[in-house]
Amino acid sequence: VEVDWTLEAAEKGGFPHYMLKEIYEQPWVLENTLGGRLKEEEGSAELGLSLDPLAVRRVHVLACGTAFYAGWVGKYLLETLARVPVEVDVASEYRYRDPVVEEGTLAIAISQSGETIDTLEALREAKRKGARTLGVINAKGSTLTREVEDVLYIHAGPEIGVASTKAYTAMLAAMALLALWLGRARGTLAEEEARRLIREMRKLPRLVEEALEKRPLVAHIAEKYHQAQDFLFLGRHVQAPTAYEGALKLKEISYIHAEAYPAGEMKHGPIALIDEHLPVVVLATEGPLYEKTLSNIQEVRARKGKVIAVATEGDEGIRGLAQDVIYVPKVHPLLAPIVSVVPLQLLAYEIAVLLGRDVDQPRNLAKSVTVE
Ligand code: G6P
Repeated sequence: VEVDWTLEAAEKGGFPHYMLKEIYEQPWVLENTLGGRLKEEEGSAELGLSLDPLAVRRVHVLACGTAFYAGWVGKYLLETLARVPVEVDVASEYRYRDPVVEEGTLAIAISQSGETIDTLEALREAKRKGARTLGVINAKGSTLTREVEDVLYIHAGPEIGVASTKAYTAMLAAMALLALWLGRARGTLAEEEARRLIREMRKLPRLVEEALEKRPLVAHIAEKYHQAQDFLFLGRHVQAPTAYEGALKLKEISYIHAEAYPAGEMKHGPIALIDEHLPVVVLATEGPLYEKTLSNIQEVRARKGKVIAVATEGDEGIRGLAQDVIYVPKVHPLLAPIVSVVPLQLLAYEIAVLLGRDVDQPRNLAKSVTVE
């Protein structure tokens, strides 16, 4: 056996690309993010923040790219568990739209690098207008960490692949921790429900491990559809951002045009795109809008679209509706994005490799965008 002992090969830990290595690191990254922070006895989380949870009257989430989608999932988590109104903004828009920052606003900047200029400037704008500030950040000692009053580190370790993977799932876990802590402190989340959520959060590393085992099936689906010109990704509720993140991953590294939509909005436009050449990835995991998502799948099928469904393990019925089904383990619906994004990361990866793309260094993209 020939062994390549170059430094780069060693850093990739036997994986052909950093991106794949980072995808496979997700189980232990989640362990790191959640680690000692979950407190089952009190049914809460220990985050070491100086922020007064009772002083928070609204939240503005500011981020770019993948971090923005993590913020969008965070909106569902915070609104459901802590009953606090949340606005999520793309940082490049927030900084120039003269946002209304009322008393009691908490601005949360989410960033892997902590150096994204738009995110920094949006945060500065919120701060000038009197917001309390919190950073959900990966890179220790980054500029953003020095400008916020509180930091919630996501502890994902260094991320080299330009397309973000492990930082995304770690951001989602961090937002779940924050929502749990705020919900408990504000009295909007009952102790029993909090304990149930904590038990589910503890399972995440193992469930993500199981989702990773779907790689051979995902590779087979990639083989089938890698010549497609376009892809559509659909999801509802907390899985709408998962659809957007799946489309983002695919366009970033394969250069295939990929569009995402909240599934309920499909009828107002994207349905016109559907024909026998269009693969449609549908997030159809268990949750409050499962039945409605099935109707959306039927609408795609009626127009001959090819449906690739991401569904909950044990959902046999969906086999009759979708051409391909990728099963992911069952988990609390609010945590489903963490498990469901894994096959979408793998799908983008496998397609990019089949197309001979430079997975770790996609054209025109930078890991961290520090100029406007
Ligand atoms: C760039 C990267 C993306 C990342 C975004 C935000 O566009 O290519 O992967 O999601 O910046 O980066 P941040 O470091 O602020 O999370």
